[in-house]
Amino acid sequence: MMSVKDREVGTGPELLYLSRGNLAEAGGESPALYAEVIERTLALHAEGKFVQPLKPYLRILDENGEPGHIADRIIAMPSYVGGGFGISGLKWIGSKHDNPAKRGMERASGLIVLNDPSTNYPIAVLEASLISSMRTAAVTVVGAKLLAREGFSDAAFVGCGLIAQRQAQSLIECCPSLSRVYLYDVSDESARRMGAWLQARYPNVAVQVEASAEAAVRNGEVVVTCTVADRPYIPFEWLRRGAFVSNVSIMDLHKDVFLKADKVVVDDWEQANREKKVLNQLVLEGRFSRDGLHAELGEIVAGRKPGRESPDETIVLNPMGMAIEDIACAYRLYELARDKGIGLRLPLYE
Ligand SMILES: NC(=O)c1ccc[n+]([C@@H]2O[C@H](COP(=O)([O-])OP(=O)(O)OC[C@H]3O[C@@H](n4cnc5c(N)ncnc54)[C@H](O)[C@@H]3O)[C@@H](O)[C@H]2O)c1
Repeated sequence: MMSVKDREVGTGPELLYLSRGNLAEAGGESPALYAEVIERTLALHAEGKFVQPLKPYLRILDENGEPGHIADRIIAMPSYVGGGFGISGLKWIGSKHDNPAKRGMERASGLIVLNDPSTNYPIAVLEASLISSMRTAAVTVVGAKLLAREGFSDAAFVGCGLIAQRQAQSLIECCPSLSRVYLYDVSDESARRMGAWLQARYPNVAVQVEASAEAAVRNGEVVVTCTVADRPYIPFEWLRRGAFVSNVSIMDLHKDVFLKADKVVVDDWEQANREKKVLNQLVLEGRFSRDGLHAELGEIVAGRKPGRESPDETIVLNPMGMAIEDIACAYRLYELARDKGIGLRLPLYE
């Protein structure tokens, strides 16, 4: 317990504030760092070494009293990650679909608070969006290593905002066989901007902007959805035989994709089967259930269930996004920053 004297001399509880720049300095732009942490975290998920309440979505009605856009919300994502981590925390992440087009701002913004589980005191506050986008990409990387065709060379990205950029960057850096990238966005300008960014950064990778989602998807051995779509538009027939789909933006795949795929994998069944997402709709209609699920991704990472078993399998990963991924990655970066003296130390009381 802290005394008044402690408070006077400024030795009370402190927290470390890490901006995006601080996180980048500590290693927070490294896809390999996130892939390593995410692999460990998913294995802990399979072992049940975590606590992760269902995330509440804060949504408000628009000026006409109508429910807003599907991507207009703030989500609270608390969790405790056990195993070698032993850390609690919360990601509080806001989103407005029209931030990029209307305000020239990134769609998502937020904070992560880390808490020491021995006292439950906050020990750090971190910018959340960098970690969130990089950990989401790392889930696709881990998924691709286990579920995509071995030595895959072609990846398609539908939706070309910040999340797609991180997904492409991480797949290119972590999966060296990837040599061709196909892009589609309803905004041609966004697709071209991402294409130019990738081409400048990875000159050995061929980048092609496609005129339709169908053309991009038909090319992908790996397909990643990164839109803010609120209804499905990708039917099963667009997928190449043996495709691996990382359904990052969740609402893009028609129901028949889940029903016809050889394997459907989620990150966490309880988190994935809610909020009237496509998978949840199928469950409510009695057309899909946990029995139809191949695995949670952590079970495959931990070797309890098989990943890809033949080059012809079509495999869908439906990653809702888990708080344990954010909290584990944030803690790793906190440790690196603390050890290197990066960031701003703030007193809790003064
Ligand atoms: N599953 C997860 O863990 C996770 C984590 C973070 C973000 N996300 C999701 O990723 C998505 C993308 O996020 P972002 O920050 O890049 O958003 P963004 O607004 O920056 O980019 C989205 C892009 O998709 C395009 N788009 C919208 N509808 C489209 C359609 N039907 N076809 C093709 N392109 C379309 C837009 O023009 C825009 O360029 C969001 O839906 C977000 O919720 C998922």
